[in-house]
Amino acid sequence: MVCLGNICRSPLAEGILKSKVEKLCLNVFVDSAGTSANHEGELPDPRSISKANDYQIDITDQRSRPFKMKDFEEFDFIYVMDQSNYNNIVKLTNNPSYINKVSMIMSELHPNKNIAVPDPYYGGEQGFEDVYQMLDDATDEIIKKLK
Ligand code: 4NP
Repeated sequence: MVCLGNICRSPLAEGILKSKVEKLCLNVFVDSAGTSANHEGELPDPRSISKANDYQIDITDQRSRPFKMKDFEEFDFIYVMDQSNYNNIVKLTNNPSYINKVSMIMSELHPNKNIAVPDPYYGGEQGFEDVYQMLDDATDEIIKKLK
């Protein structure tokens, strides 16, 4: 799960998918990263921690980290939140098998529509609820695929 800062959207995406994977006892490793290292080592944004808590998900074990080239090898699916994340990740490689792993997470629900999970960083609390609901729906689709 990849966003810009790895403090708002992708930590929620990681927490939501992990909770579903754990409930179903699926053997799937879930992680998240940012395209920037600006928040490296930081906890998720307090608003994301609080939103996850509203749904009984604890994301306080997470720390922001930048995306690494090794992630292209280690992960089967790389979900980005918006077009800018997508562009930043695919420009790191020319390898088609790596590029094929990268997709917009909302394309799980709405293929080829290029729908973004909007960056809630500069907005209000409702933005975090909206992000949560989008990610909850998208991760349901991912779970269907993983099963
Ligand atoms: P995220 O949100 O990409 O969902 O983690 C942001 C976090 C920090 C900043 C921008 C977006 N920032 O500009 O510091």
